[in-house]
Amino acid sequence: MRKDKGGAMIMKITDSVLYVGVNDRDIDLFEGQYAVPHGVSYNSYIILDEKIAVMDSVDARKTEEWLDNLAAALNGRKPDYLIVSHLEPDHSGSIQAIARQYPDMKLVMTAKALSMLPQFAGQALAARAAAVKENDTLSLGAHTLRFFTAPMVHWPEVMVNYEESEKLLFSADAFGKFGALDTDESWLSEARRYYFNIVGKYGSPVQTLLKKAAGLDIRVICPLHGPALSENLEYYIGKYQVWSSYAPEDQGVLVAYGSLHGNTAGAAKYLAELLKFQGANVFLADLARDDMALILAEAFRFDKTVLACSTYDGNFFPKMEDFLLHLKAKAFQKRRVALIENGSWAPMAAKCMKSYLEQMKEITLCENTVTIKSTVSEENKAQLAELAKELLA
Ligand SMILES: Cc1cc2nc3c(=O)[nH]c(=O)nc-3n(C[C@H](O)[C@H](O)[C@H](O)COP(=O)(O)O)c2cc1C
Ligand SMILES: [Fe+2]
Ligand SMILES: [Fe+2]
Repeated sequence: MRKDKGGAMIMKITDSVLYVGVNDRDIDLFEGQYAVPHGVSYNSYIILDEKIAVMDSVDARKTEEWLDNLAAALNGRKPDYLIVSHLEPDHSGSIQAIARQYPDMKLVMTAKALSMLPQFAGQALAARAAAVKENDTLSLGAHTLRFFTAPMVHWPEVMVNYEESEKLLFSADAFGKFGALDTDESWLSEARRYYFNIVGKYGSPVQTLLKKAAGLDIRVICPLHGPALSENLEYYIGKYQVWSSYAPEDQGVLVAYGSLHGNTAGAAKYLAELLKFQGANVFLADLARDDMALILAEAFRFDKTVLACSTYDGNFFPKMEDFLLHLKAKAFQKRRVALIENGSWAPMAAKCMKSYLEQMKEITLCENTVTIKSTVSEENKAQLAELAKELLA
């Protein structure tokens, strides 16, 4: 990484391909809802050759910093092309600014993106944009970009771009991760949370993209968020294979509870302890207090989920409903689920939870559903032990 005099941050991907993206540590919620305690990066790259291509712009929150990075990388030259992989504002938010700064620069994108461009960057820019289709190439000199459409990874206009001479895959939102680039954390947890919350609904389009990628010799994956990946690529691609097929990644149990006065929470903790004691990998989560996006990612990670919930006004604890809505929206499927409910006079929570689970594909309910009446009884403890046995059978 190098900082020039003006403070621009540039990293080498290869001798002629530089990272010119930006970290955003000030944003409170990504896409208006996801907590990013370590920020997020909006990645952009530049390929320096006879012709110069800039790979994507960044969120409007960081336009100036990005243009400074670009200017430093360009070192007096001018870009010939802006390659637009994705029009979501975290990547298209600075298109107008770069187009103003470099009036001779052309824009390159899919036909679908071209049709949507005016919505994000005004009418005038369409005249400077060219549409590319599957397998088209663009020669920059020694470097050649080959374009592959990737519809619904994670918008319809998306493409990924493969640079043939250095074997770089510019993968759009795929293989992205939350967290600014200078965050010291492992890739897996924040990449999983990113995948299931941002791209998770689109497993089948991701599988299509992975099939295309399998035909390429890839040395470095350059995503639009998070670090460029240059080692052990089978590991990352393997994770994406598992995630996009909705198969569980690990054996284990998410125990997620919504509790008004703590008794349902107590039952969930009791079950979690029983499961752990028997060697299970358990993630215990409070739906009212813990990060919903992380809990959702853990539900996808494991093969089993236990939902424990209080009855609330003839219905169920709203945070549980919220969680089930999130799971449904992200196409949660192919999992075993167990239910624990609590109610003081007419318990309803299990029925309510079931009505949501029935709308999901290939959910297998456990035979044991535990009903608690206000406080956890000795009988309930025995039922929870039975449930633990069923879950681990
Ligand atoms: C605001 C509120 C509404 C409730 N509505 C119902 C209800 O409609 N039916 C019922 O059986 N219990 C109802 N209860 C009782 C709780 O469901 C029950 O006491 C609770 O599940 C105990 O578990 P907890 O300590 O985990 O909250 C209600 C409790 C509260 C505080
Ligand atoms: Fe996106
Ligand atoms: Fe993005």
